[in-house]
Amino acid sequence: MSRGSRLSPSRYLRLSSPRRREADDGASLPPHRMRSGGETDESFIAVGDQLVDLLTENAGLCADSRVLEIGCGYGRLAHALRRHGFVGTYLGIDALKPQVRWCTRRLGGDGFRFRHVDIANERYNPEGRVAVHDLELGDARFDVIVAINLFTHMWPDDVLTHLRVVARSLALDGRAAATFFLLDHERQDAEGDQFAPRMPFERQPGCRYESADDPLHRVGYEPKWLVLKGAEAGLVPAGSPLFGAWPEPPVGRQRQPDHQDLLVFNRLEDALRRR
Ligand SMILES: C[S@@+](CC[C@H](N)C(=O)[O-])C[C@H]1O[C@@H](n2cnc3c(N)ncnc32)[C@H](O)[C@@H]1O
Repeated sequence: MSRGSRLSPSRYLRLSSPRRREADDGASLPPHRMRSGGETDESFIAVGDQLVDLLTENAGLCADSRVLEIGCGYGRLAHALRRHGFVGTYLGIDALKPQVRWCTRRLGGDGFRFRHVDIANERYNPEGRVAVHDLELGDARFDVIVAINLFTHMWPDDVLTHLRVVARSLALDGRAAATFFLLDHERQDAEGDQFAPRMPFERQPGCRYESADDPLHRVGYEPKWLVLKGAEAGLVPAGSPLFGAWPEPPVGRQRQPDHQDLLVFNRLEDALRRR
């Protein structure tokens, strides 16, 4: 396989169940008790396939990329990469031990690694002993860094610290793809004030959240806050955001299949070098 080759399309959904298990190459599906929101097998597979397509089209993901996923959960992306014939290296880190243990056992090996980081997160790991700024990934460099559904559960200081870690760990010309609930004023202008009812609470300027009872359940950011903090961390957007379905994207703007919005970043120094 030549460097930078494309991943092959997944045949998984077209196979009947016993054949799926064979095609799985030993990588069975995560137990239902581990899944969020009672996710079905079909959704686990379909969303994973969409993610691979999205990252291929927008973040330069190739069959032999070096990938880091922060907040890998129960392995949706890793499972999908395996189904697509990925032959690069993948490191998934997460604050939840059982998820990491399952991923290691069922999806580890052949370039796939998973690491538990006892990182503090008020919602997912309140007893965590590692502060975000102490997250240590060594000198490893990654072509693609992914954070899906991670910053949507994080306060501003932690987002900024993660963006710094991301900027430090990206390879030359690498890309970082992250999902957000973007509080985009263009969207607001086109469709009326949709954010106040959806995200009624302000944490600080540029950051709002949905629920007083579970504040980290859904946290939203203004794109201009993210651009500013990205630049502080050493990252610049690689293009316009791809809007998800929460609420509706502005008329005529591109929409991505997931319900969250996607932002892709480059390293600031790469962008300056290219000018
Ligand atoms: C909503 S889940 C998303 C999981 C996965 N990305 C997906 O889309 O299926 C968020 C995950 O991020 C993990 N997490 C939260 N903060 C983290 C951090 N600072 N570092 C690594 N993982 C973190 C949580 O343990 C949880 O598994």
